[in-house]
Amino acid sequence: MITCIGVGPGDIGFLTQKAASLIGAADVVAGFDAVVNVVGSIIPGRASVITMGYKDQTERLAEVARLHHQGAMCVVVFMGDIHFSGFQYLERVERACGHSVETLPGISSAQILASRGHVCFDETTFITFHRRGDIEPFKQHLLHVLQDGRNAIVIPRPWDFMPTDIAAYLIAEGAAPGHRAEVWENLTGSEAHWTGELCELAVLNKSQTLQQAGLSAGIARGIQAKPHTCETNSGAPCCTEVLKAAPGFLPDMPGHVAPAAVEHAARGPFSDMSILLIRALHQWPSQLEAADQK
Ligand SMILES: C[S@@+](CC[C@H](N)C(=O)[O-])C[C@H]1O[C@@H](n2cnc3c(N)ncnc32)[C@H](O)[C@@H]1O
Repeated sequence: MITCIGVGPGDIGFLTQKAASLIGAADVVAGFDAVVNVVGSIIPGRASVITMGYKDQTERLAEVARLHHQGAMCVVVFMGDIHFSGFQYLERVERACGHSVETLPGISSAQILASRGHVCFDETTFITFHRRGDIEPFKQHLLHVLQDGRNAIVIPRPWDFMPTDIAAYLIAEGAAPGHRAEVWENLTGSEAHWTGELCELAVLNKSQTLQQAGLSAGIARGIQAKPHTCETNSGAPCCTEVLKAAPGFLPDMPGHVAPAAVEHAARGPFSDMSILLIRALHQWPSQLEAADQK
């Protein structure tokens, strides 16, 4: 038997009891090193542990599948919840086994973010860029989500589409620069977060660490940002033209963010373990009174 289980976004306190009992009964516990580490303290001593990375995942999963077909009780642990940005890994597990496998939901980083930021899922769309293949349709979808007045919770792509890139892309494509944005790092662990406007995020100096950028854990504030007036003075596209004309550099314009040149080589001040919230421009009004009148 083989089950794929979500183990929460970093702290074992977010593991479900069902997941803990499956791990406790397992002959084999497999997964990426960082995820297996989350549950390391409850893996039974008799169980085999099979860890893997991006490069050797196919071979290691073949080993897990072989043990499963020999009758071993196997669990494959996934970061957060399997059903958000975990399906490509699930596909790899199922390919290795030759059949579909059962999944057990976990607590997602998106849920923890929603809790920290007081975000209503009904008014929010989840999008991940952390996947192999063409992300263009997902980029377009994100634009539409914001146009529809919804919040977006976004998982960046660590190797080339991090929060700064996402913000720059959105502004270049006409999204309002004044969307409130938050980047949360290492949720349930050594948390840190940044808060500001989309246009500020787009021009963060990519060579800085989060700390160099002026942030410390638990402190939310904008970075090097002068008051931003795009939306009120001249409408959304005021930053757009600048970004399109000179990607990576915004000149010092009155009432605008005045950053240094943006370096595109590094992944920016945010680590791989970061997740982005872009709030709708306008909060959804309460529907309680309307419902009460019916
Ligand atoms: C392949 S996705 C898996 C997401 C996972 N299935 C979930 O539900 O959270 C991995 C990415 O999720 C985000 N992530 C996962 N755990 C996180 C955490 N504790 N804090 C912030 N971001 C996290 C990071 O962007 C990370 O690179």
